Amino acid sequence: MDRKDFIKSVGYTCIGGSAIVALLQSCAGTNYFAQNILSENQIAVKKTEFVEVKKDKTLQRKYVLVKTTVFDFPICIYKLSEQNYTALLLKCTHKGCELKPHGDYLSCPCHGSEFSNTGVVLNPPAEENLKVFQVKTDQANIYVQL
Ligand code: FES
Repeated sequence: MDRKDFIKSVGYTCIGGSAIVALLQSCAGTNYFAQNILSENQIAVKKTEFVEVKKDKTLQRKYVLVKTTVFDFPICIYKLSEQNYTALLLKCTHKGCELKPHGDYLSCPCHGSEFSNTGVVLNPPAEENLKVFQVKTDQANIYVQL
């Protein structure tokens, strides 16, 4: 292989690698931020925020995220059943990093702590459970008491 061919093959390898990284990053950005109405000390989120329409399919989200002006961290609302939801502050109780939700649990990218979808520590180094907000529901909405 001469110098020119070597440079070409390295260039194609770099381009291919960049494309794969971009593809993986686009797959990782699947967290959905729900619309919400913030009143004095609660947020209201429509239950329909848990419905996801993809092409011809209607899917149910396991959780949605909510940003508020009250906290520096998002709140994750998990749907446990039709009438049962939990709302957790995505702040790790170890050193305060933002948690990442995955299906039925949350993990901390800083030191690896894991928490259940009800905020209970599953794996250290965190020792304290997450901040859990009181949640009420009616036919149409979920109300999170801040
Ligand atoms: S800050 Fe989350 S495990 Fe350390």
